[in-house]
Amino acid sequence: MKWHYEKDIAYENIDINKVKDNIYLFKTMIIASFIEITSHIYERNLNEHYKNDEETTQWLQQTWEPEEVQHGESIKRYINTIWPEFDWEKHYNLFTNDYLPLCKVEALEPTKAGEMIARMVVETGTSTFYKTLVNYAKELKEPVLEDLASKISKDEVYHFEMFEKVFKKYKDEEKLTRNDITKVLYTRLNVINNEDIKIAFEAIQSEQSYDEYINQTKQFAKKYYPYKMATKMFIRPLGLHKSMESAIATIISPAFKILGI
Ligand SMILES: [Fe+2]
Ligand SMILES: [Fe+2]
Repeated sequence: MKWHYEKDIAYENIDINKVKDNIYLFKTMIIASFIEITSHIYERNLNEHYKNDEETTQWLQQTWEPEEVQHGESIKRYINTIWPEFDWEKHYNLFTNDYLPLCKVEALEPTKAGEMIARMVVETGTSTFYKTLVNYAKELKEPVLEDLASKISKDEVYHFEMFEKVFKKYKDEEKLTRNDITKVLYTRLNVINNEDIKIAFEAIQSEQSYDEYINQTKQFAKKYYPYKMATKMFIRPLGLHKSMESAIATIISPAFKILGI
């Protein structure tokens, strides 16, 4: 791991008064921590899917999973520093009760290259989500959040690149056409928006409705989300020429805004 959450993040420097009343940040960090910390379950399923590919399973076990879990641990520490009254464990249990039954091997894409496209979409989502937090923390002048989100975002970009390597390894073997790739991309884009985030949100048991929270997120995204970065990463599995990639990213970017991602 390139950094360690207990040594390299200055939680003691957080200006608690500055963020204590920020309910939106509070909820968003909880959702992120729940999902990240549960990555070990997904790692198990991925290992099963790639069991004959030792290089990939080794990387998943020794690098990917510890890094994802560390993301969750570091955010949990951030939450506990500012909102110690929140019973993280209790609400996390509520989350896992509903979430774990959904994490089955059958939920993965049927082919090895296909699942890698799905993983690339997820890492696009996470790296850009943390980049959004970096942008927000800058405006908020909260350097600890900025540092934490920036470290995590860089890890997620690295995961994306590693998954892309595995994708390329299987792409030709499985004879995936651009049409096949687009189908997986499209399906996965819809998945980003629901299930895990909704389940994590419900587990917080706040008074606010999920729809209200999503509306707030859309407003937030308009201001801080790195749309260009997102679209460039999202279309990468299509293997377009660089100039084409840039042009298409410009076209798709507004669609991301409409989706409120
Ligand atoms: Fe992560
Ligand atoms: Fe990741």
